[in-house]
Amino acid sequence: MDKLIILSVLLVFFVSTVLGLECYVCENQEDNNEKCVKTIKNCDYNQDVCLTEIKWGSTPYWSQGAKKQYYISKRCSNKTECATTRRRYMPLCTHIWYQDWVCSDCCLGDRCNYYIISGSATLKPVLITLFGVLLLRLVL
Ligand SMILES: *[C@@H]1O[C@H](CO)[C@@H](O)[C@H](O)[C@H]1NC(C)=O
Repeated sequence: MDKLIILSVLLVFFVSTVLGLECYVCENQEDNNEKCVKTIKNCDYNQDVCLTEIKWGSTPYWSQGAKKQYYISKRCSNKTECATTRRRYMPLCTHIWYQDWVCSDCCLGDRCNYYIISGSATLKPVLITLFGVLLLRLVL
């Protein structure tokens, strides 16, 4: 009986940690409300990070004196794509208000891209530790 409970707990952890990374997703939103914090996607099996892009400017159509605003996008990604994107944006990530800029950031863990300021979730290590402890209990 005891083992059955442990087994089902293990199964839940396995499914949630290995199979389904969850990221918030949205496209070119003005702020980090509504869509960007309410739309959750189950990422594909080969996607292991959540990617956030923050643009600042008067795009899509640049025009002088136009009001500048944020364009926030979030999506599922993988470490390779994340590193490439970050490298590409590095020179453009100035945070200077009177210029257009764009920055990107990635994080590990379910729904870790809730806030747009970087801060990765610490949930995964906790779950993996729990997984290990439960596995030990099962074996001993
Ligand atoms: C990462 O994602 C990109 C874009 O979706 C894809 O082209 C690439 O094959 C992926 N790389 C890995 C290692 O999964």
